[in-house]
Amino acid sequence: MPRDQTLHEQFLEIFGETGGRIHQVRAPGRVNLIGEHTDYNEGFVFPMAIEPEVRMVCRGRDDARVRLASTVFPGKIAEFSLAEKIIRVEGTDRWTNYARGVAAEFLAGGIPLTGMDALIGNTLPVGGGLSSSAAIEVATALCFLALGGLDIDMSRLALLCQKAEHEFAGVPVGIMDQTVVISGRAGHVLLLDCRDLSKQFVALDSNELRVVIVNSMVKHELSAGEYGKRRKECEQGVAFFRKLNPGVRALRDVSMSQVEDAKGQLDDVVWRRCRHVVSENARTQEAARMLARKEYEKVGELMVQSHQSLRDDYEVSSPELDFLSSEAMKVKAVYGARMTGGGFGGCIVALAQPRAVEALVEHVTRAYRDKFGKAPSAFVTTATAGAKIVE
Ligand code: GLA
Repeated sequence: MPRDQTLHEQFLEIFGETGGRIHQVRAPGRVNLIGEHTDYNEGFVFPMAIEPEVRMVCRGRDDARVRLASTVFPGKIAEFSLAEKIIRVEGTDRWTNYARGVAAEFLAGGIPLTGMDALIGNTLPVGGGLSSSAAIEVATALCFLALGGLDIDMSRLALLCQKAEHEFAGVPVGIMDQTVVISGRAGHVLLLDCRDLSKQFVALDSNELRVVIVNSMVKHELSAGEYGKRRKECEQGVAFFRKLNPGVRALRDVSMSQVEDAKGQLDDVVWRRCRHVVSENARTQEAARMLARKEYEKVGELMVQSHQSLRDDYEVSSPELDFLSSEAMKVKAVYGARMTGGGFGGCIVALAQPRAVEALVEHVTRAYRDKFGKAPSAFVTTATAGAKIVE
C-alpha cells in the first residue's frame, strides 16, 4: 500500500525536517453487516474493515513528549508527556484523549514507549458510527509500535485499545470495533466470536455484491449514556437467567425459548433487550452461513429483521435511520438494509447487487432530503485489510 504523500508533506510542514525516520500507518474504519449490541454480551458480530481510514504520520522524539496535530484541527498542536501521569482532558483538546488513552494503557501494560511527533489524517466521518475512534486508537498504537520496533499480539492490542476507550473516552464499548480495525481481511467479512475472540472470514464476492453506506449526518453520541444503560439492562437480564441456570455467564448462553418463557417474569424493557440480543446472535451466525452459501436474499432478510429488533426491542435506532433503511429496501436489487453500529444516529448499511447502487444512492438521497431537509452522504466500499504500518 502506497504512502499518502500529501499527509507526509503536511507532516513535514508542521513538524519540520529533522532527518529522523518517518513512519506512516493506516487504520481503517469498519461497518458491521449484522450482530449489533452482541459483542459485550459475549456473542457474535459480522463486521468488515472499510475504505475510509485514519492515517498517521509519525517520527520519534527523545524527550518523552507526544505532540499531536490533526488535519481536522489545522494549526493546532496538542501535547502531553509520557514521563508524567497521563490524564483525560476536557475542552478543545478532547480529540487527543484517544491517543492519551492508548499511551496510558500501553505504559500500564509494561510496554515501553518513545515520544513522537504525529499528524492524524482522517477520511472517516467523526461521529458517523464507522469507528473513527477505534481507528485513531489503533493508528496511535501502531505508531508507538513502529517507532519502538515492537511487536505485540493482535488480540492484546485490541484489548488495550478498548480499555483506552473505556478509560479515556468514557464509553464502555465491546471488542468488535478494535478487533476488526486490526484484523480485517481484504474482500472478507469477519465473523467474530466475542467470547474467545476466534475469527472466521467469509468472502464477499465483489462481482455479485456491493456494500453501500449511507450516513444520516446525525452524529451518534454513545457517551450520552444510553450505551451504558443498555449494558446494565443486559446485566440485569443475565442476573435473572443465572438464577434459573448458574451456568449462564452472559446473554450468549441463553436460548430463544428461555427468553420466551421469561416473559412476564422480567421487567418488560429488560426482557425486550434480552430478546434482541439472543435473537441477534442467532441471526448473525445464520447470516454468516448464508453469505458463505451466497444466499443473499436470506442475508438481506436477516439484516431487515436485525433493524426491526434494534428499533423495537433494543430502542437504539432513530427516525432518520428507520427512514433510510426502509427507503433503501424499496429499491430493486437491494437485498437488505439496516442501521449499523451503536445507533442513535450514524449510518445505515445496505447489501445490494452492483446494478442497484446508482438507483439506491439516487433514491435515498432524494427521499431523505425531501423528508428531513438535509442531504445524507452515501458511498460504496469494498472490504479492506486491517491496520498496517505502511512504511
Ligand atoms: C459500538 C461499540 C461496539 C458495539 C456496537 C454495537 O460501535 O463500540 O463495541 O457494541 O456499538 O454493536
